[in-house]
Amino acid sequence: MLTVLASGKAAPGVTTSTWALALSWPRPLLVADCDLAGGDMAPGMLAGRVGVDRGLLSWSAAARHDLPVAAAATLLAEHAVQVPEQPQLSLIPGFATTTQGSSFTNRAWERLAAALGRSAASTGRDAMVDAGRLVTDRGCWPVLRAADQVLLTVRPSVRSVHAAQDAVQRLRQELGDLATVSALVVGTGPYSAGEVAKALGLPLVGVLPEDRAAAVLSDGARLSYKAMQRSALMRAATSLAGRLAASTERSAHSAVVAG
Ligand SMILES: Nc1ncnc2c1ncn2[C@@H]1O[C@H](COP(=O)(O)OP(=O)(O)OP(=O)(O)O)[C@@H](O)[C@H]1O
Ligand SMILES: [Mg+2]
Repeated sequence: MLTVLASGKAAPGVTTSTWALALSWPRPLLVADCDLAGGDMAPGMLAGRVGVDRGLLSWSAAARHDLPVAAAATLLAEHAVQVPEQPQLSLIPGFATTTQGSSFTNRAWERLAAALGRSAASTGRDAMVDAGRLVTDRGCWPVLRAADQVLLTVRPSVRSVHAAQDAVQRLRQELGDLATVSALVVGTGPYSAGEVAKALGLPLVGVLPEDRAAAVLSDGARLSYKAMQRSALMRAATSLAGRLAASTERSAHSAVVAG
């Protein structure tokens, strides 16, 4: 199962939500940081704890063009780092710079999409991706097309909904339809989560609350891991991750709850 989180502009919390869901995932999981604007996952929660030698670029260099998809999927594990807090979770760090991001060709994205799509079958690990902001026609669209479910992350504010509406248009263009796409609302604001999803024309997959524990995930702030796990954010993430993971055998949209 491949789950992708993305957003429009306005930084609604894609990276933080990806971490929260990944740490709560009930099965072994491989997370890939595919944000074209530069990967924030490793320098965020794992600040100072991850070297720069492994990641998307090292995998791409090692996964030769003629490598079968199953082998390319297995190779992903060699270019990932194990997350100390959660032995079942590995992270493939993303690009250090936007220049690195631009150097990733469409062919490389296609190969990555195929490998991530094959991860569960080849390695027994589900896959999750932080796709960052969907603001151009470049980048990890092949990965979004390969996804079983795409969670469009949005804040319940006019500014964020406007940005997300633009992302919805791009998603419709690039994917052909919105069958795999749903809205993930982060925090509270002047509008209810149901109103936000309706404005986007998407089903609501879930809500993650505003919580200071977010700073641990986005910026490596200090808080004991136990305290973080008890936080409202991680409790909501655990419940949502359980529903998303359970939807493997059903269609992605059967995990959707009414707003
Ligand atoms: N549930 C939450 N509760 C409180 N703060 C949050 C929450 N989610 C994210 N944040 C905060 O919002 C800010 C942006 O979060 P994050 O980096 O995850 O956004 P993003 O959408 O990945 O941004 P970008 O598009 O720049 O990659 C961070 O300071 C983070 O701590
Ligand atoms: Mg981010």
